[in-house]
Amino acid sequence: MNIYYITGTSRGLGLAFAEEILKDENNLVIGIGRQCEIEHANYSHKRLDLADTVEVAKFRFGQHQKADKVVLINNAGTLGEIKYVGGLDNKELVNALHINLVSPCVLMNNFLTAYRNEQNLEKVILNISSGAAVNPYDGWSAYCTSKAGLNMFSEVISSEKEIAKIRGLKIFSIAPGVIETAMQDQIRTADKKDFNQVDRFVELKNEGGLQSPTETAVRLLAMIENSRSNEVYQDLRNA
Ligand SMILES: NC(=O)c1ccc[n+]([C@@H]2O[C@H](COP(=O)([O-])OP(=O)(O)OC[C@H]3O[C@@H](n4cnc5c(N)ncnc54)[C@H](OP(=O)(O)O)[C@@H]3O)[C@@H](O)[C@H]2O)c1
Repeated sequence: MNIYYITGTSRGLGLAFAEEILKDENNLVIGIGRQCEIEHANYSHKRLDLADTVEVAKFRFGQHQKADKVVLINNAGTLGEIKYVGGLDNKELVNALHINLVSPCVLMNNFLTAYRNEQNLEKVILNISSGAAVNPYDGWSAYCTSKAGLNMFSEVISSEKEIAKIRGLKIFSIAPGVIETAMQDQIRTADKKDFNQVDRFVELKNEGGLQSPTETAVRLLAMIENSRSNEVYQDLRNA
């Protein structure tokens, strides 16, 4: 039996992950997020606002006696407010950093607290990164910063895994490419004075250059299943 903890299953890529994974009755999915949109015998949901780091810190991963593999997919994310630094609302800035970076790090810590000594259990962490982790985009300061932080936290776990010889652990931080979700709607409707690449994203959509959430989820799941690479940060577009 395989257990998948996935944040942000209400829509977009997270919903596609859950739907794909639930096609196999050997899989259980535990969604984590503000809203539950899935009804399935093998799905359960933990209501949690990832902006609320005090509540996130209290979240405990379960003991799954029959599990062969346990997976954490830190998928939930927000672009936050698209605006230049100096004009940002501080509450929105802090929220975006909490949702995209602080809460995923706390969840990774709690995940490894629960499972790191389980020698025979396969343990996989997939963080949904972005090309914005390694390229600065104007107006996206909180988003770029949080994804860069997520990459580095993942790299450190990978190095600790080697030093402490943690068995059966794989960790990835993968940029998925441009996906047709609500996040892209927000990008295309941004004001040009807050983000000067709006036209590029509108063109990409008009040219049919966006991936569907389902095809992205399928490719990412195949990537973490079959990857022989020790690279933590990867870009699905180069796979
Ligand atoms: N779309 C793209 O082109 C693209 C490109 C690169 C990377 N990504 C990454 O892919 C991941 C999925 O994004 P998406 O495109 O599927 O975006 P999306 O359609 O906007 O979905 C975002 C998900 O995150 C959840 N979420 C947001 N704020 C939350 C909070 N405070 N607490 C709990 N859950 C929260 C949302 O749930 P609620 O129902 O609670 O709002 C939703 O399920 C993100 O990490 C994003 O950065 C996307």
